[in-house]
Amino acid sequence: MTTRDTILELFKNRPDHFLSGAEVCRKLGISRTAVWKHISQLRDNGYEIEAIPSRGYRLLSLPDRLLPAEVTSGLQTRSVGCEVIYFDETDSTNAQARILADAGAREGTVVIADSQNGGKGRLGRSWFSPSGVNLYLSVILRPPISPRFATQLTFLSAVAVAQAIEATGSFLPQLKWPNDVLLNGRKVAGLLNELNAETEQIHYLVLGIGVNLNMRTEQFPSDLRTPATSLLLEEGKTVSRLKFTQALLRSLDQLYASYLSTGFLPLKQEWESRCNMIDQWVEVDYQSYQRVGQVSGVDESGALLLSLDGGITEKVLAGDVRLLSRGA
Ligand code: BTN
Repeated sequence: MTTRDTILELFKNRPDHFLSGAEVCRKLGISRTAVWKHISQLRDNGYEIEAIPSRGYRLLSLPDRLLPAEVTSGLQTRSVGCEVIYFDETDSTNAQARILADAGAREGTVVIADSQNGGKGRLGRSWFSPSGVNLYLSVILRPPISPRFATQLTFLSAVAVAQAIEATGSFLPQLKWPNDVLLNGRKVAGLLNELNAETEQIHYLVLGIGVNLNMRTEQFPSDLRTPATSLLLEEGKTVSRLKFTQALLRSLDQLYASYLSTGFLPLKQEWESRCNMIDQWVEVDYQSYQRVGQVSGVDESGALLLSLDGGITEKVLAGDVRLLSRGA
């Protein structure tokens, strides 16, 4: 814990109270000038701190930024969030997570950005990432599984996002294969997992998660492929980015621990119970592959199982899927 983190802990242990300069000096074994310097730095980082000469310092409000000290405060996870790296702006949290993972970052390291200027979506698309409103986060995992099963972790991200959304309000998110989270049929979150592996061993996996939290209608680009929404637009009130992020990290942590101990089946069931496509007729489109069929579920490699007319079942590995409004 840094000195700044310890000062924040002192504030948070006694909310609304003044903390005298002398008390901080004594508890931390530092000079008054050093205390003042730390308080100034906290203010520069968006913490609103009142200073009254005869009484000391009082924390008035926290910054609306997903700073590591805030995200990890009281998080109590086993692995996910053991380390949090924050950028006000970066190209892509996935790209940064890959650099950190290549350099040996620990499993569970999380990269968060307030905005991305090169946010990546699936199939080479971009992910619109304005500042101050949403969540852009990547997690480094090093699962001891065969690369053949790496796609299973996309389902883990999807279920974790759904659980975090469910914990936020009266929402019933739906999961759309392969990696969208929807609210009332509109996309509220997207997932992009990137793998670094040899034939038989995963070096690391980056779970990239983008959630539209407080974006307003006029902030969405007009040329989106899929109709999009945000939690603010659906619920009509602002969501705390910090609380949402912590809920998401806790879900990811729990699901990952249970995945490592009990395997994919419980996760697959959680995913399928929220999937908007089971037993539905859909159209799949991927480059020259086009099919119409009825969805029966996903298999252990994460492929969508599509029953075609004539009784054949095909495994779809990638593509855009559209729900058809009737039996085909
Ligand atoms: C998609 O639906 O196309 C996937 C979007 C994934 C976006 C997230 S935002 C955080 C992470 N960093 C990125 O560059 N992309 C993912």
